[in-house]
Amino acid sequence: MAKPPRTALVTGASSGIGAAIARRLAAQNWSLALTGRNRDRLEAVARQCDALGAHRTALRCFDMREPAPLTALMDEIGVPDLYVSNHGVLDGRRAEAPVDSGAADRRVIEINLVSSVEALQLVLPRMQQRGSGQVVLVSSLAGLSPLPDAAAYSASKAGLIAYGLSLREALRSSGVGISVVCPGYVESPMADEHLGERPYQVDADTAARKILASAANNRRLTGFPAPLWPAALFSILSPERLNRFFTKGLRFTVAKRDEAD
Ligand SMILES: NC(=O)c1ccc[n+]([C@@H]2O[C@H](COP(=O)([O-])OP(=O)(O)OC[C@H]3O[C@@H](n4cnc5c(N)ncnc54)[C@H](OP(=O)(O)O)[C@@H]3O)[C@@H](O)[C@H]2O)c1
Repeated sequence: MAKPPRTALVTGASSGIGAAIARRLAAQNWSLALTGRNRDRLEAVARQCDALGAHRTALRCFDMREPAPLTALMDEIGVPDLYVSNHGVLDGRRAEAPVDSGAADRRVIEINLVSSVEALQLVLPRMQQRGSGQVVLVSSLAGLSPLPDAAAYSASKAGLIAYGLSLREALRSSGVGISVVCPGYVESPMADEHLGERPYQVDADTAARKILASAANNRRLTGFPAPLWPAALFSILSPERLNRFFTKGLRFTVAKRDEAD
C-alpha cells in the first residue's frame, strides 16, 4: 500500500529560505501548509509547489505576531509531521546611527522570538497528543556569535536556540523532536537589506537542503557554512581581541525600508 503523504507547515514560506524549503518538500510530494504576509508572493510559491508535485498546498496570510490562524490551518491540513519555524526579519544599525533603535529592537524580538514561541505553543500540544512530529527552528549564526550591528536580531536568534534546546530535552520521550539550525549568510530578500560583506554566502536552496537534512535526522544543533560554523561555536569563549580581529570585516548597516511593518 502506498505511504500517505507527509505534511509540513512552513512559516515565512513566501520568500527566500522558506520558499526554497517548500519547493524541496513539494518535489518529494509532501502536503504543505504555507504561511507568510504577502499574498501575491505566497500564492506564487504555492503554484510552484503544485507544479513540482506537492500532494496538496494550503496557505494562510497573516502576521505571526497574531499566530491564531495556525490553528485553523492545522484543522484544515491535520497535525503536521514537520513544522518549520522559519519566519523572521532583520533589523539593526542604520548608517547614521551608532546602535539599533528601540522600536526596531522591539519589532525584531517580537517577530523572531516571541511570535515563534507563541506559534510553537499552538503546534506542540497537537504533536504531543499524537506522539510524533519534528520541529525545526531556523535561528542564525548570529545567535551564537552576536553581531555588533544587530543586537536585537542576535538576541532573538540566541533566544530561539535556548528555547529550542530546552524544549528538545523536555520533550525527549514524547515522540516530538526539536532541531535548531543556524545558517550563515544566505541569498534572499533579507540578505539584500544587509549592507556589508557576506562571506561564504550560500543560495537559498542549499540552505533549505541543509535545514531539511537536520530535521530529517533530528539533529540537536547544526549550522553552516563549514568555515563559519565552528568559528561561531567557539566565539563566545575566544578572547575579545581575537574575536574583534576576525569579525571586523563583517561590520554592516541595514538598508532603510519604505515601511516599518
Ligand atoms: N538570509 C540570511 O542570510 C539568513 C541568515 C541566517 C538566518 N536567517 C533566517 O532565515 C529565516 C528566513 O530568512 P530569509 O533570508 O529567507 O528572509 P526573507 O526572504 O526576508 O523571508 C522572511 C520570511 O518571513 C516572513 N515574515 C517576516 N515577518 C513576518 C511576520 N511578522 N509575520 C509573518 N511572516 C513574516 C516573510 O513574509 P512576507 O515576506 O510575506 O512578509 C518571509 O516569508 C529568518 O528567520 C532569518 O532570520 C537568514
